[in-house]
Amino acid sequence: MAVFNLGTLAVCGASIAVLLPLISKLSAPAPPRRAKRLGDPTYDLEKIDAPAATGAKLRIVAWALADSPVAPLLRRFLINQNGADELQDLALQVVDEGKSTVAYTPMHRLTTEEWKRHEAAASGAGSVKTLLQEGFDGQPPGPGVYVTVEDYARAYKSSAWTPTSAMERLLQAIRKLPAEYRVFVTVLEEDVRKQAQDSEQRILKGEARSIFEGVPIAVKDMVSVRGHPFSEGTVWPAGDRHNKRAEEDDNTVRLFREAGAIILGTTVMTEFGVTPLGYSVHFKGPVNAYNGSYYCGGSSSGSAVAVAMGLVPVAVGMDGGGSIRIPAAMEGAVGLAPTYGRVPDSSPDTLFGTMVKTGPIAATTRDAALAHAVMSQSVSSHIFTRLYGEPFGVPPVHLEGFMDLNLRGIRLGVFWDHFNDAEPLVVEACKAALETLKTLGAEVVPVALPHLKALSLAHGLDISTEFSTFFGNLLYNGHNLEPGTRIQLGLGYTISGVEFNSANILRGWALKYMHEEVFKKLNVQAIVSPSMGILPPKMPEDVTAAGESNTPLIMQMMKYIFLGNLLGLPGISVPVGYDDNTKLPVSMHLMGAHWEEAVLLRLANALETRHLQRKKPSAFFDLRAEL
Ligand SMILES: *[C@@H]1O[C@H](CO)[C@@H](O)[C@H](O)[C@H]1NC(C)=O
Repeated sequence: MAVFNLGTLAVCGASIAVLLPLISKLSAPAPPRRAKRLGDPTYDLEKIDAPAATGAKLRIVAWALADSPVAPLLRRFLINQNGADELQDLALQVVDEGKSTVAYTPMHRLTTEEWKRHEAAASGAGSVKTLLQEGFDGQPPGPGVYVTVEDYARAYKSSAWTPTSAMERLLQAIRKLPAEYRVFVTVLEEDVRKQAQDSEQRILKGEARSIFEGVPIAVKDMVSVRGHPFSEGTVWPAGDRHNKRAEEDDNTVRLFREAGAIILGTTVMTEFGVTPLGYSVHFKGPVNAYNGSYYCGGSSSGSAVAVAMGLVPVAVGMDGGGSIRIPAAMEGAVGLAPTYGRVPDSSPDTLFGTMVKTGPIAATTRDAALAHAVMSQSVSSHIFTRLYGEPFGVPPVHLEGFMDLNLRGIRLGVFWDHFNDAEPLVVEACKAALETLKTLGAEVVPVALPHLKALSLAHGLDISTEFSTFFGNLLYNGHNLEPGTRIQLGLGYTISGVEFNSANILRGWALKYMHEEVFKKLNVQAIVSPSMGILPPKMPEDVTAAGESNTPLIMQMMKYIFLGNLLGLPGISVPVGYDDNTKLPVSMHLMGAHWEEAVLLRLANALETRHLQRKKPSAFFDLRAEL
C-alpha cells in the first residue's frame, strides 16, 4: 500500500511547480522563428532526433508515446525537437512572395503542347501497344540471372514451357520456402491452376493476350485481388471486413489479367506500410535475399524479395515514402514509383493518400518498363482522370527512346552535397554509374534542392497525418498493432493544423521550384543520387520480438526518395553494384519531372545494359533448372 506523508507531498508539489511550465513549453507547437531565407540553396538535411529501440525497450517507448497519460506531451516534444517551427517560417515567406499556391495534391498540369508531345510519342516508336504484343526489338542482354517476361513469352511460344507446368513448379517452390523467406500472404493454389489452364488454352489457340500471357505476377497485400483477403500487413480480428475476400480486382490487377498475366498471390508488407525496414513481426519475415542477416527493405517487402528470389519477374508495389524503391534498392531489383496520378489504382485505404503511388518492382528494367506500360493505361472515370481533367490531363503512357543507348542531349542534375552525404561505398558505386552514363553521352549539371530538411519534415507530417486518418482509430480499439506502428499512428494525431497547412504551402512552393528552376531553366531530365544513404542495415538480434523503431536510420534510407512522394515526381531505383563482404546490392535513384517515366526507364536500361553484371542472391529459385 502506498504511504503518503507530508514530506513526499511537498516534494511532489515542488516538482509539479517546476515541471509544469517546462512541460507546457515543450508541449505546445513552437512559434515560428526567422531561420532561413526562402530558396537558400544550402544543403541542410541533418540527422534527426528520435529514440531508437527494439524488444522490451521498444514496448516501453511505444507505451510512453502512444498509451501513457503524457503521450501527447512527449510526442509534441519530439515534433518540436525536429524543427517543425521552420515550416511555418518558410510558409510565411512563401505567402509573402505571393507566387505559389498551396498544394494538397502533388499535381503538375502539362500545357497542351507538352501533352501533345507525349501523345505523339505514344503513337510513334514508343507505342506500348506494339511493345506489349511483340516485346522489344533486338536481343535482351543475355541469358541473365533472371527469367524475364520476354523469356516466359519465348518459352511459351516455342512450347518449351507451358503455363500449367511452370505454375506447378512455382507452387511447389512456394510451399517449400523456408519460414524467413515466406514472402506470400495468400496463394490460392486452385485459383492459380485455373488461371494457368485458361492461359494455356489461349496460347494453344494462338490467342495470347500480350507478352504477359501466362506470366506470374505477385501483388502487395494492400492492393485488392479478387478472392483474396486484404490484410495490409496486420492481423485483423476474426469477422473484420478486411478478412472478407475481395469481390473485385484493383484496376492494376485487372489490367494485368487483361494482359494475360497470372496473379500468383499477395505478398507480405510491413504493418500498414509504416516502416521501410521491411521486417514484419506478424509474419516473422522476410529477410534479405542476398544476406539473411540483413533487412530486406519495405514496405513492399515480399514483393521485392519474391522478385529478387526469381519467383516472379514482376510484382506490384505501393510507394508513399519509398515503399517500392527502398525494398527494390535493398534487393537489387528495379523499382519504379511513377508520377502521382499515373497508375489508376483503386484499392480502399489508398485512394485518399496523396503520397502513395502504385508501381512495379521487377527483376530487370525491361520488365519494369513492360509492367509500367500495362499498369499505366488510364481509366476515364477514374479520380485521377477527373482531377487532371480531360482531354489534356493525364498523358498517354509511352516508352519513347527506351532502347536508345546514345544519351547525348540528356542532362542529369546532381546536388553534390546531397549525393555525397552517404556511406563511402554507396557514393563510390553511384559515381561509377554516373561515369557510365557520361560515357554514353549524358551531361552532368550541378543543381541545388533547397530546404530538404523542411521538405523531409513536410513529407513526414503529411504522410503521418494521412496514416492516422486511415488507421489511427486502431490505436484505441484494442487492435494488436506492432509497437512501431503505435508510435507512428500516435504522432499523426499530434501534428497541428498550422503545421499541416504550412507543410502543404511549402509543398506548393517546391513543386513550382522544381519545375521552373530545375527541370525547365536548367533543362535537366533527371536528378541522380544514391537510392539510400546507407547499405541495407543489419537486423538486430531481437527483431522478431517487437520489430525495430529507428527514425534516424529510416531517414538515412529515405533521404533521397521522399521528395518524389511529396512532389508527385516519378523515381526509379536501379542496382549499380554490390558490397563484396555482405554481398548486398547498392542502388542508384533517378527522379524526373511529372509524366517523364520514359526517360528514367531509358537511363535505367542504359545502366542495366552497359554498367552492371547482375549477381544471383543467396536465396534463389531457378525456374530454368526445374523445367
Ligand atoms: C552476410 O554478411 C556477413 C557480414 O555481416 C558476412 O560475413 C557473410 O558472409 C554474408 N553472407 C553471405 C551469404 O554472403
